Amino acid sequence: MNKFIPVNIPKIFKNEKRFVNQALRTNWISSEGPFVKKFEKNFSIYNKKKFGVAVSNGTAALEIAIKSLNLKKGSEVIIPAFSIISTANAVIKNKLKPILVDCDLETWNMRSDETLKKITKKTKAIIITHIYGLPVDLKKILQIAKKKNIIIIEDTAEVIGLKYKNKICGSFGDLSTFSFYANKHITTGEGGMICTNSKKYYEKCKSLRNLSFSKSFYDRFNHDDIGWNYRMSNLQAALGCGQLKNINWIIKRKREIGNKYYSKLKNKDNIILQKNIISYAKNIYWVFGILVKKNSKISRNKIMKKLLKKNIETRPFFLPMNKQKIFKKMKLFNRIKAPNSEYLSKNGFYLPSGLGITNKQIDFVIKNLLKIIS
Ligand SMILES: Cc1ncc(COP(=O)(O)O)c(C=O)c1O
Repeated sequence: MNKFIPVNIPKIFKNEKRFVNQALRTNWISSEGPFVKKFEKNFSIYNKKKFGVAVSNGTAALEIAIKSLNLKKGSEVIIPAFSIISTANAVIKNKLKPILVDCDLETWNMRSDETLKKITKKTKAIIITHIYGLPVDLKKILQIAKKKNIIIIEDTAEVIGLKYKNKICGSFGDLSTFSFYANKHITTGEGGMICTNSKKYYEKCKSLRNLSFSKSFYDRFNHDDIGWNYRMSNLQAALGCGQLKNINWIIKRKREIGNKYYSKLKNKDNIILQKNIISYAKNIYWVFGILVKKNSKISRNKIMKKLLKKNIETRPFFLPMNKQKIFKKMKLFNRIKAPNSEYLSKNGFYLPSGLGITNKQIDFVIKNLLKIIS
């Protein structure tokens, strides 16, 4: 088998085509169309939230969510060191101070004990980001945040459909953010959403998404705030409505893919895997990550290169925020250390894990990886 196996192939079902065609047929192609409202309603119901604001991507969702809090300049926002740069960017762009928390080596998520230690009088929000398929251990963070009036933004981009102790992730944050990029559990090609139970945050996020146009009919172009055009189009939302109809199948198949990799790759000499099941969750496998052991005879980069020679595409893990060249230039996290995140970043990579992968392709990846690492 020599055909290239990309790191992600999305899966589009019949309903998506039907709905997108309906949007085209009816000429509703901008963000004004009915699928946007339908997708917002159905997706927020799924996540046990009252309101949804569909946006252009998950990065935009984070930017808007943070701005909607209206925090004083310089307030501290706790974020994971190990995640996509969107989180830190959103905090910085809003003139707030990002405070990093390292991850643990078992779940690869931000540590809850570390998070609590980083709380100061200036802490106004915590961005909880669930990583790769397992949730952050939320219990204590939520308890303390409530007591201290700290706002929780729950970045649920990577774990749509995952449950923490039988409750859906995305239902815990005061505001929860999502991404619908092509490699996410549900995709609109590009897209995102903010879900919340708060009418106040909902109204503000809706306004910021759409250039904060005035609500007054005649005074429309007299804007209330410095917003963005971060709208989602009706075509994208039509795709999302179709995807959402298959969410149960998607979650089942994602777990099947992850479990297939896990059963063949667990307990191997040179690698470590993210936990399959922990006391509070069952991995939903956004991506299937491999962490190369410290004493491994073969390096991460060599494994990735050898897989690519077999036409198997992989991706390295995130680079922690304290190691980003742009933040070094800005002297942002100068003395901050996040040893676990740094270890993950140097030694981690993920395998093709998209919904479009076949069982035969998974077997091919496993066979070649085992040959390379043993
Ligand atoms: C945890 C997390 N948050 C936010 C984003 C940003 O989403 P988008 O690519 O839609 O901007 C990503 C992207 O992968 C992510 O993994």
